[in-house]
Amino acid sequence: MSETLERWGSKRAFILAVTGAAVGLGNIWRFPYVAGENGGAAFLLIYVAFVLLLGIPVMMAEILIGRAGRRGPMQALSKLAVDAGASRHWRWLGLFGAFTVFCILSFYSVVSGWSIEFLVASINGDFDGASAAEIGAGFEAFLANPGLLIFNHSLFLFMTMTVVAAGVAKGLERLNNLLMPLLYGLLLLLAGYATTTDGFGTALSWLFLPSFGDVTASVVLHAMGHAFFTLAVGACALMAYGAYMPDEQSLPKAAFAVAMLDISVALLAGIAIFSVVFAQGMDPADGPGLMFVTLPIAFSELPWGAFWLSVFFLLLLLATWTSAINLAEPMVATLQGLGWRRSVSTAVVALSVWLLGLLSAFSFSTLADVRPLFGRNVFELVSSIPPDIFLPLGGLLIAVFAAWVMPREQVVQALGVGESGYVLWRNIVRWVSIPLTFIVLLGGLL
Ligand code: TRP
Repeated sequence: MSETLERWGSKRAFILAVTGAAVGLGNIWRFPYVAGENGGAAFLLIYVAFVLLLGIPVMMAEILIGRAGRRGPMQALSKLAVDAGASRHWRWLGLFGAFTVFCILSFYSVVSGWSIEFLVASINGDFDGASAAEIGAGFEAFLANPGLLIFNHSLFLFMTMTVVAAGVAKGLERLNNLLMPLLYGLLLLLAGYATTTDGFGTALSWLFLPSFGDVTASVVLHAMGHAFFTLAVGACALMAYGAYMPDEQSLPKAAFAVAMLDISVALLAGIAIFSVVFAQGMDPADGPGLMFVTLPIAFSELPWGAFWLSVFFLLLLLATWTSAINLAEPMVATLQGLGWRRSVSTAVVALSVWLLGLLSAFSFSTLADVRPLFGRNVFELVSSIPPDIFLPLGGLLIAVFAAWVMPREQVVQALGVGESGYVLWRNIVRWVSIPLTFIVLLGGLL
C-alpha cells in the first residue's frame, strides 16, 4: 500500500464521512429496540453518558492512530508500535477489528435488506390502509421467508462492495453531503407528527424519566456496547478513515460534532417510534421488528403517507449503505495490507460476509431454534456479542495504545489541539474511559 493515501476533499467532507459511518441502523433501528428491551429512559441516560465519557474520547484515539499512521489499520498499528519501541504484536488489534466488523456486517446487511424490501413495498403502496395488526403480521410473514431475506441481503451487499471496490473517498463525499440533511429533515418531520399522537406524552416520559430500579449489569453493558456501535468506534473502522484526514483539522471538534449529530438522530427516531408504539398499545420490548412495524403505521396516518414512507426507506437505505461501506473497509484494507489486490480482497470479503449472513437470514425460520451459544440463535449472537463485547474490548485496546503507548509529540500533532487539549484528553482516556470500559466489561461478563 502506498505511504501517502488520498485525502478527503475538505474538513467538512471528513466530518460527513464519519457521520455517514456513524448514522445508520444503529440510530434508527437498533437504538429503539435495544432501549425498548432495556427499560427506556435509564438505558438512554447511561448510553448518552457512555458516548460522552467513552465514545468521544476513544473515537479520537482511534482516528488519531489512523491519522498518525496514514496506513491501513494493521500496518498503522505495526508501524506506530515499532516507532514507539513497543511490540509489533499490536497489529493483531487490526485483525481483531476486522473480525468484529465481519460479524457485524453479516447481520447488518441482512437487516439493511429489510429496508430494500420495505422501500419497494411502500412504493407499491402495500401499506395503504393497512391496520397495525396487518402490518405486524406482514412483517412476520416476511421474516419467515428466507429466500426473500437472502435476495435482499445479496442485493445490499452487492451495492456495498461495489463502492468499496472502487475505493471509498470519492463517491462517499457527495452521497453524504446530500443524504444527511435530507434524512435529518425527514426525521424532524416525523417527530413533529409524533407530537400530535396520543402516545407522545407516554413516549416522552418513557424515554426521559428514568427509573433506576431496573438497571442491571446487563443493561449497563448493552448501553456501553450501543455507544460504541452507534459511533462506529472500537473496530479500527474509523482508524481506516482517519488515514485520509486532512492535516489541518481539529480532531476533537470533528468527533464532538459527529457524536451530537448521531445522538440527535437516535432521539428523533426514538420519539417518532415510541409515540406510535404507545399510541397503538404495542410493546416497546417487541425486538428487532419495532421500527419496521411502527413507522409504516405512523406514516399511514400522514397526508401523502405512502410517499413519505418511500422517501424515508430510501434515506434509511442510503444511511445504512454509508455505514456498511465503513464496516467493509477495515477488512478490505487488512487483506490489501497483506499484499492482495483491492479487487480480490473485496471479492473475498463479500463472499465471506454473504455466507455468514445466510445464517442470520435463516435465523428467523429454519434456524430459529438452532442456538449454538448462550441459548441464542445465530442472528441473536452476531447482533449482540460483537457490538456489546468485541467493540468495547477493541476500544479499550485502542485507547491504551493511543494514551499509554504512543509518544506524546506524535499524539499532540495528530489530535491537532495543542498541549493543554492533549493533556485533558489523555487524562480522560487514562483515568475515566479505560477503567470504566474495563469495569463494565468485567461486570457484564460475570
Ligand atoms: N454506526 C453504524 C450504525 O449505527 C454501524 C457501524 C458503521 C459500525 N461502521 C461501524 C459499528 C464500525 C461498529 C464499527 O448503524
